[in-house]
Amino acid sequence: MEATKPFVWDDRYLLGHGEMDATHREFVDRVNALLTADDAGLGAALAAFAAHAAAHFAEENEWMVKNDFPPRDCHIDEHNKVLASVHEVQRHLAEGDVAIVRELAVALMEWFPAHADYLDSALATWLVKRLHAGAPLVLRRNVAKA
Ligand SMILES: [Fe+2]
Ligand SMILES: [Fe+2]
Repeated sequence: MEATKPFVWDDRYLLGHGEMDATHREFVDRVNALLTADDAGLGAALAAFAAHAAAHFAEENEWMVKNDFPPRDCHIDEHNKVLASVHEVQRHLAEGDVAIVRELAVALMEWFPAHADYLDSALATWLVKRLHAGAPLVLRRNVAKA
């Protein structure tokens, strides 16, 4: 098998919401475990990822609903599509297809940065603003010119 590059945490994924950031570190670890598992360990790594993804997405979905996050529908939809793919791949693995699990791991590694940048970051900003009761902590440069 051709060597796959690992998926490692990068601080550019930080969104400023502690629990979400911790969950995202776990996401990266689980996907990396899936990328680097040998054939015998793939089933366990995929089950661990599926459990992580279900909890990760359920947590964000709940935050979106409870906090009236406006664009929640497309975000929840995207979570559901990923979960459906994971379950589909679990069925293929049960039939002995290990290649599709490796393809899923690479697809997840490619999917995450844009999902975090566009959808999760908007949610993190919304939650942090709510937490600070409409007074978000924003550092601004003094743009006044002398
Ligand atoms: Fe997320
Ligand atoms: Fe998300």
